[in-house]
This record gives sequence, C-alpha cells and structure tokens, in this order.
Amino acid sequence: MIIKYITRLIVLLNIIFYGKSYTEDDEMKEKVIVLCTSILVLVLVCVVAIGLKAKEKNSTKKEKKTELIEETSSELETTTEEETTTEPETEALVDPTKPMVALTFDDGPSRENTNRILDVLKEHNARATFFVVGYNIDGNEDVLKRIADEGSEVANHTANHKQLTEIEDDAELDSEINTVRNKIVEVTGQEVVPLRPPFGDVDERVMARIQDPVILWAIDTLDWKTRDAASTVANVQENIFDGAIVLMHDIHGETADAVVQIVEWLDSQGYQMVTVSELGEYRRGGLTTGVKYGSLKPEETATAEEAEAVEEDTTHGEE
Ligand code: NI
Repeated sequence: MIIKYITRLIVLLNIIFYGKSYTEDDEMKEKVIVLCTSILVLVLVCVVAIGLKAKEKNSTKKEKKTELIEETSSELETTTEEETTTEPETEALVDPTKPMVALTFDDGPSRENTNRILDVLKEHNARATFFVVGYNIDGNEDVLKRIADEGSEVANHTANHKQLTEIEDDAELDSEINTVRNKIVEVTGQEVVPLRPPFGDVDERVMARIQDPVILWAIDTLDWKTRDAASTVANVQENIFDGAIVLMHDIHGETADAVVQIVEWLDSQGYQMVTVSELGEYRRGGLTTGVKYGSLKPEETATAEEAEAVEEDTTHGEE
C-alpha cells in the first residue's frame, strides 16, 4: 500500500513538474513501477535479513572465542600461581607428618661425583648435606654454589681433616674450624653451617669452640671401606629409619653409583630426603649449637640423647 502511494506521488510529481496529464499510459507506468519497487523492496528486505543473520552468527562466534580465550588465560593464571607458590619454597614440598631422612656426604666436594649426586637429587626433588673439607674447595666454589642453589646444604668438615681433639693449640683449632665455615658463608650466604668433626671425634673443649650445631650420624654405610655400590645400597636399605642421618662420601665414584639407587629406593619407600638443617627444623624447630645430633627421630624430645645413635666405629673416611 505504502509503495502504491509513493509511486502515485512520483507520478503526481511528474505531472506537476513536466505538466503531463494523468493518462492510461501513466496508469500502466504506475503498475510497472509498483511491481518493480515491490520486487526491489523484497530483495532489499531479504539482503538486510541475511546480513543481520550473518552478523549474529559472527558475534556469537566471537563471543565463543573470547570465552575460550578467557578460559585458557584463567587456566594459565592458575598454573602460574601454583608455580610461584611452590617453586621458591622447597620446604613447602615437605610433609612434616611423613618420614624423612638426611643423606650426608663427607670429604668433598668432588667436581665429578658431587655433581653426579646433585643430578640424582634434583631428579627426585631430594636434598642432602655436603660436609666439605678445606683442601677440596679451591677451584670448586661453583660446586658449593650449585649445592646451595638447588636447595641442598653446604656444611663444614674442617680445613685439613685433622682429629680435632688432638690439636693442642687453640688458634690452630679455631683455624681448622672457622676457615671453611667462613668460606661457605662467603660463597653461599648461609647463616648456620653445621659441622661434622673428622672421625666424629669431639670432646668438651672442642665443642666449646664450635659455634654451630655438630652433626654425627646414625647409619655408617662404610662406602669408603667397601668401595662397592651394591653394598652401600644394601646398608641403607637394611638400616634406614625415620629421622636417620646417613653417612656417605661424595669423593668416590662407587658412592655416586649407589646414590642413584638409594635415592630412587628411598623415594619409593615414601622417605623424604631433606638437609640436616631441614630435619632439625621439622623435628626440633631448629638445630641447637652445643648439641651433637646422630639422628632426629619424630618421637624424640630430649636433645641430649641425640648423639647416642652414632655407631661405635667412628674411623670413617680415613684415606
Ligand atoms: Ni671425613
């Protein structure tokens, strides 16, 4: 109807502007124009309708896309959050209610074997304590740095591996104890540097001159004596207990071989491998200076008895 009126208006305008009269011919023209415009309008409506539909489809697609992007980005956010909370704090991975042991390595560092042991520890998210001697530090400072960087602990095994109780001169005794301690603090930035006296030998006089906790051991693998990986592994498997401090030597290739199996086995048995200081932290709220620790069992409370787990034979590490 509207179209009809519009065409009539056009025809009327024609008459007005060109002075044409409304004839039969004009009526025919009108009909043609009405038909043509009707078709045109129909086509236009169709085009517009199709266009709108296409737009709708596009926008829903876009919405879906943005939803997807939002989902993935939120997933990414959560993963990065998890990473940031777990990565810097290796301690957070330790469950204090579950068994834990402290593997310790004396007489290193050894460029080859200490690094091999660190590789194995890293693979199993395990840590250990390395009691280094002064004469093996020079040129291996990067190994000390790696130990600390990977969450393990560098500890003091004195400058020259002398029997401390036999040193009569106080200045020499202090030098034996503190030279390595100072070097470790310098390289790693550690505040506490646990000390293991060579041959496990200390007396009251020596204890009084040591400014850090003294660490002995509960399980002597005798790795230095047997120089046999299978024997070292068996020794750990037979004697291990929750809170044990295990004695090994990272200067021997056979010990590094054994560690591959020991770490894997301990892991499979549910033992968490922590540093001596971590063991002290979880079991006693920290290690105390002036106390000798041979093990840190969960049920123990009296620190004075800690060293009693140490075996009689303390002649380890004699080369
Ligand atoms: Ni030693």
